[in-house]
Amino acid sequence: MAQRPLHLSGTRGSAVIALSTMASTSEQVWVVGVTGASGVRYATRLLEVLPPLVKEVHVVFSDAALRVLHDEEDVSINPSNLTIERLTGKSASNVTFYNPRDIGARIASGSMLTTGMVVIPCSMATLGAIAHGIPSHLVHRAADVHMKEGRRLVLVPRETPLSPIHLENLLTLSRYGVRIVPAMPGFYHKPKSVDDMIDQFVMKVLDSMGVPNSLGSRWKEPTEIE
Ligand SMILES: Cc1cc2nc3c(=O)[nH]c(=O)nc-3n(C[C@H](O)[C@H](O)[C@H](O)COP(=O)(O)O)c2cc1C
Repeated sequence: MAQRPLHLSGTRGSAVIALSTMASTSEQVWVVGVTGASGVRYATRLLEVLPPLVKEVHVVFSDAALRVLHDEEDVSINPSNLTIERLTGKSASNVTFYNPRDIGARIASGSMLTTGMVVIPCSMATLGAIAHGIPSHLVHRAADVHMKEGRRLVLVPRETPLSPIHLENLLTLSRYGVRIVPAMPGFYHKPKSVDDMIDQFVMKVLDSMGVPNSLGSRWKEPTEIE
């Protein structure tokens, strides 16, 4: 799927982010960063559905993401024991995990060719590190690399309420062509369960990544007004 360059301008000057021409889905290589914001379940669901759709998935959980995994899902895993089976209960041969402290990992270099990166969920700490180009772990560094290489970067920020600093950081990154997909589940599809809400939202994330999917339901105009 061809992607047109985004021409953006903001109060800090204009920026042109030429998004790489996207490979067909089966050739796509994605980096998935998971950080310590609430909603690690969005990440585990994405990691369940993404591997069969694309060529490779490279995953890094921050230390705080593993803490949230423990606190929200009662799952205790240390970084060196992370596997796709442990996280999702499903196997996939095209998923590689990285230690967040391994700043020499392949995904820390722009020479590794990728389609793009998604940070899901994205904490305000990671948002700030990316917005200001100050990486302190591998999720930040990989995001920094995607920005410098002009590749697609999708962030799924989660916090409430948002401070002026958070809002400034979101606007800064949006102006540089980063796709901001806040973890704000919708209700228009009439979800029956939390899983329905997660799937509908992960569909929106996949849409922003440019990965065709039929995970959630697409809006149809109601035929009758009650
Ligand atoms: C259970 C739990 C939930 C959290 N939820 C959020 C959140 O929704 N948003 C956020 O910005 N930080 C949240 N935090 C705080 C971050 O984990 C913390 O700022 C951390 O330093 C983020 O590090 P990271 O960006 O390297 O993952 C949460 C922490 C815990 C333990």
